[in-house]
Amino acid sequence: MKLLVTGGAGFIGSHFVRTALRERDWSIRNFDALTYAGNLENLRDIENNPRYEFVRGDICDARAVAAALEGVDAIAHFAAETHVDRSILGARDFITTNVQGTYEILEAAKARNLRVLHMSTDEVYGSVPAPRFTSESDPFEPSSPYSASKAAGDHLALAFFRTHKLPVVVARPANNYGPFQFPEKLLPLSITRVFGGKKIPVYGDGKQVRDWLHVEDCCRALVAILERGRDGEAYNIPGGNMRTNVEVLSAVLKATGGDAALLEHVSDRPGHDRRYALDGAKIARDLNWRPARTVETEMPIVVAWYRENEAWWKRVMSGEYRAYHEQNYGWRKKA
Ligand code: NAD
Ligand code: TYD
Repeated sequence: MKLLVTGGAGFIGSHFVRTALRERDWSIRNFDALTYAGNLENLRDIENNPRYEFVRGDICDARAVAAALEGVDAIAHFAAETHVDRSILGARDFITTNVQGTYEILEAAKARNLRVLHMSTDEVYGSVPAPRFTSESDPFEPSSPYSASKAAGDHLALAFFRTHKLPVVVARPANNYGPFQFPEKLLPLSITRVFGGKKIPVYGDGKQVRDWLHVEDCCRALVAILERGRDGEAYNIPGGNMRTNVEVLSAVLKATGGDAALLEHVSDRPGHDRRYALDGAKIARDLNWRPARTVETEMPIVVAWYRENEAWWKRVMSGEYRAYHEQNYGWRKKA
């Protein structure tokens, strides 16, 4: 199978590319615009794999998408604007990429009747009061411009199945964590701040609950959904690790040896979802997938990765990773 992966230079996309090359005999074409979140240094270990190629392009550009689909059998669609705080500051890029861009992917897939794995998120369900857990048929109640744009993309994907019989499957994962995560998200931000002796901003009371999912567990689920998920169905991917933010930050402090005084409560995020809680019964029953890792066991390993790969995140923070793109890639990888 030849798979087009959109957003494969980002956090989850790059892990998915690596997992797919390792565990399957698929060929992968990574189609990514290389926004601030795209980093080809995430893929240095596999960039010379003969089953891998990179094409720089924007999912909103219908012609570029059509050209990138030449010879492709299926699409795994990760490309998105992903940071809630950025969507609060300004949502235009979120609407363009997550709604219009997703539409272009679906339209191009429809022209060739290609299977699409659409990457949605647990955030489409909005805040879920305890003791409730959301199942795949629950209504959407997104709170942020980010999650609203993801909800629109998710609705469009399933609408293309219902209306056009496009073979679409949708994944709704919980908060991912692991190596190569852009250090604006809570875990890499807090780990790298502890290393620098800097304060960690805790929004509001820090008692918001997230369900932490190791990115490699997530990629295992995504392969299963792509291969065996039923057309027109959505699958929650829970982490099995529901923790408050202060709980997960205390695991960070324990693994880094950081001082609790580094935690600094700051004003809350507007529209901040209090709790995400995914019901994982469907993916366990239909695809025999369950999360395998606990956040407390993994945290020392993840912290060690950021410690050993200081050059990676320092180059992200200084912007040097972008110079690597300009040297090595134009709008198409140099021969
Ligand atoms: P990320 O921000 O790390 O990477 C996004 C990638 O998409 C980057 O490589 C970027 O260059 C690319 N991109 C952005 N706009 C593009 C465009 N217009 N055309 C082509 N490429 C473009 O994202 P991530 O955290 O790896 O998330 C991947 C997907 O998973 C997203 O769809 C996100 O909504 C979803 N998701 C993420 C999480 C999480 O915890 N990170 C949880 C649930 C769902
Ligand atoms: P984040 O990593 O941005 O993911 P999401 O908003 O998609 O869940 O944030 C995870 C949680 O951590 C969320 O409740 C917001 C909170 N948070 C902080 O308290 N401080 C921070 O600096 C950041 C980035 C997030």
